[in-house]
Amino acid sequence: MDKTISTPHLFQPLTLRSVTLRNRIGVSPMCQYSATDGVANDWHFVHLGSRAVGGAGIVIVEATGIAPEGRITPGCMGLWNEKQIEPLARIANFVKERGAVAGIQIAHAGRKASAALPWNGGAHLSAAQGGWETIAPSAIAFGGDLPKVPRAMTEADITRVQNDFVATAKRALAAGFNFLELHAAHGYLFNEFLSPLSNHRTDKYGGSFENRTRLLLDTTRAVRQVWPDNLPLAVRISAIDWKEGGWQIEDSIALAKLLKAEGVDLMDCSSGGLVPDAKITVVPGYQVPFAEKVRHGANIATAAVGFITEAKQADDIVREGKADVVLLAREFLRDAYWPAHAARTLGHKLTPPNQYARAW
Ligand SMILES: Cc1cc2nc3c(=O)[nH]c(=O)nc-3n(C[C@H](O)[C@H](O)[C@H](O)COP(=O)(O)O)c2cc1C
Repeated sequence: MDKTISTPHLFQPLTLRSVTLRNRIGVSPMCQYSATDGVANDWHFVHLGSRAVGGAGIVIVEATGIAPEGRITPGCMGLWNEKQIEPLARIANFVKERGAVAGIQIAHAGRKASAALPWNGGAHLSAAQGGWETIAPSAIAFGGDLPKVPRAMTEADITRVQNDFVATAKRALAAGFNFLELHAAHGYLFNEFLSPLSNHRTDKYGGSFENRTRLLLDTTRAVRQVWPDNLPLAVRISAIDWKEGGWQIEDSIALAKLLKAEGVDLMDCSSGGLVPDAKITVVPGYQVPFAEKVRHGANIATAAVGFITEAKQADDIVREGKADVVLLAREFLRDAYWPAHAARTLGHKLTPPNQYARAW
C-alpha cells in the first residue's frame, strides 16, 4: 500500500524550505521561568530534549528575550549575548539528533515585561523587587496585576529593538536552530504595536493598519536577511484580541499576506493576551478556526494551537486542511510521549529510539 495513504495525516512529513518535520506535531513554546541571567540549563535540556525523544516533529524553545528588559520575568530565557548560545546549542543539537526540528521563539515582552515568576504571583515587580522600566508603543498600562505604565518608545528605541531581533536571530542560527519564530502574540511588544487598543501613536508606527504593522514587517524583513534562505521563518500572532475595537481576523489575514511576501513560511495562530478584560470562549480547538481562516485567506502554512489534546482531534485538523501543524502546550507537559501515544491511537507506530525499542 502507498505509505502516504496508510500513514495518518498527523504523521505525514511536512517540508518547509529545506527543513522537514517528520510529523505535524509540535511542542508549543512554553516559558519555564527557570533560566539564570537568560542562560538555559539542565532543566531546559531535559524538558525540551525529552519531548524530542517523545516523537515531536518540532520542538520550539520558549519565548527568548532579545534583550534583558524584553523578558517577561527574571527567569525567562534570553539570547542577547554570546554566553547564552552554548547551552542552547546543546539543546538544539540534541533535539535535531533525535529527529525533530529545533525551533526557537524570540521575543520582547513590551509592557508585560518585568513580572514576577508565576509561582510568585506573576505581578509586575517594583524596582526594589528587581523590576525594570518597561517600554511599549504608547504609555498605556496593561492593567490588573500588570499596572506599570510603560514608557512610549522613541524612534531610537524602535531601531534598537529591531537591531536586537536581528542580532538574536544570528545567535539562534549560531546555536544551530533550524526554525525561527517571531513572537507577535499574547499582548507582547509586536502585538502591542499591531492592536489599536494598545497603540495610540501618531507617528508612522501608529494609526492606520499600515503604520501599526510597520514595526513587525520591517523587523521581519531585517531578520529574513540574516536568517538563511533555506531555513523556515514563522510568526506567532494573536489572531484576534477578543475585544471590540481591537485586532480582528481580517487584520490577521491581511498581515499574513504581507508577512508571506517578506519570506515568512508559517503563521502560528494563537489569540488574546492583549487586554485583561478580553472575553474568550475556551473550548477544545477554539483557536483552530483562526489557523484555518489565515491558511485559506493568505494561502500560507499555519499552525493551530490551543486545547488540542486528542489524537483524532489533531489528525482531523490536519486532514481537513485547517492547519499544517498542530502545536500542543499543556498536553505535552502531561505527556512527553504524546506523539507515540497518539500514533498508537491512530493505528500507526513510530520508530522508537533504539534504547526504548522494547517498550514502544
Ligand atoms: C507554562 C506555559 C508557558 C507558555 N509560554 C509561552 C511562550 O513562551 N510563548 C508562547 O507563544 N506561548 C506560550 N504559552 C502558550 C502556549 O504555547 C499555548 O499557546 C497555550 O498554552 C495553548 O495551548 P494548550 O491548550 O495546548 O496549552 C505558554 C503556555 C504555558 C502553559
